[in-house]
Amino acid sequence: MHASDHGDPRRLCVIEGDGIGHEVVPAAIDVLHATGLPFVVEQAEGGWSSFQERGNSLPAETIETAKACDAVLFGAVASPSHRVEGYSSTIVGLRRALDLYANLRPCHSWPIATSRPGIDLLIVRENSEGLYVRRERRDGDTAVAERIITQHGSSRIVRVACEWAMRRRGKLTIVHKANVLPETCGLFRETALRVASGYPDLEVEEMLVDTAALRLVTTPERFDVVVTTNLFGDILSDEAAGLVGGLGLAPSANLGDAHALFEPVHGAAPDIAGQGIANPLAAILAAAMLLDRFRQHRRARTVREAVEYVLRHGPHTPDLGGQAGTDDVTQAIVAHVTKRATRNG
Ligand code: NAI
Ligand code: MG
Repeated sequence: MHASDHGDPRRLCVIEGDGIGHEVVPAAIDVLHATGLPFVVEQAEGGWSSFQERGNSLPAETIETAKACDAVLFGAVASPSHRVEGYSSTIVGLRRALDLYANLRPCHSWPIATSRPGIDLLIVRENSEGLYVRRERRDGDTAVAERIITQHGSSRIVRVACEWAMRRRGKLTIVHKANVLPETCGLFRETALRVASGYPDLEVEEMLVDTAALRLVTTPERFDVVVTTNLFGDILSDEAAGLVGGLGLAPSANLGDAHALFEPVHGAAPDIAGQGIANPLAAILAAAMLLDRFRQHRRARTVREAVEYVLRHGPHTPDLGGQAGTDDVTQAIVAHVTKRATRNG
């Protein structure tokens, strides 16, 4: 039985990381406190700053803490675009260490001018293999990356996607590029179609990734659940975020059978870090997904309603066209959530 079923506070491993991770994660924690959820925070190190200070972007203690806690709340890390000896991405390493194979990236319309209406989709991104297995090498003037697709990895992610589609509008889009990559994408496609055939109530379609990228822009309303491989899912989810207000509003859940990690989709945003103007809503919405994981659905709903309210009435950070700071938005959310939490006793 889960420790917290006895009323113990949940243990939350918090990894702020780099850049605006230090600004948006504390905001999300303030909001979690405002919901009245009993929890304790265990801070852990990770990211580029950790690499510079201790030579390790993902210290073993961080993995231990993450495994010991009930969930992880992650901010963002800054990874250099050139090779740095000894450095590797913290978040990719954490996903692997905790076997967080399913990355859920919901995307729906918001009541703001920059959001298109009528969108409600969920991207289910395979999170443990594909091109992110980091098997790259230089061979003279040639560079090679290995892309690993397994039947096991494909079937477990498609099962997750099918389960979500059953709970949503019953439509599944399998996205691949099997016409060009008949082995890797071919195996993903075959496996996906086989797993999905076990869900006769679903409407199942397949789509090439370039077509999917186009249709996301032209007819995003047509999508319900999209399942795809790691890199395609990474790209399509940023594209989807762009339809409904941008990265400042896009949360994600990284789920495995034993562990769970919640993070905004965005990165460390070095261009605005330290200015107090990062939009905290993506991290706050990630915290709402965490509440759902803890079966705190009423609290999760309260947080989402507060986000809707603040999007309708302001304040807004500059990415949404406003002039407010991270703290202004956070305080507005906290005030709304506190009012609800008090009313609900
Ligand atoms: P990014 O997501 O950090 O920023 C892209 C653009 O969106 C920037 O103009 C930024 O200011 C804006 N933005 C992002 N989040 C925002 C927020 N909450 N509020 C307002 N504006 C926001 O992606 P970028 O610039 O490509 O990468 C920067 C660094 O972040 C890189 O080192 C990259 O490796 C890392 N990164 C880390 C991720 C993670 O930790 N999961 C994911 C993506 C990138
Ligand atoms: Mg990304």
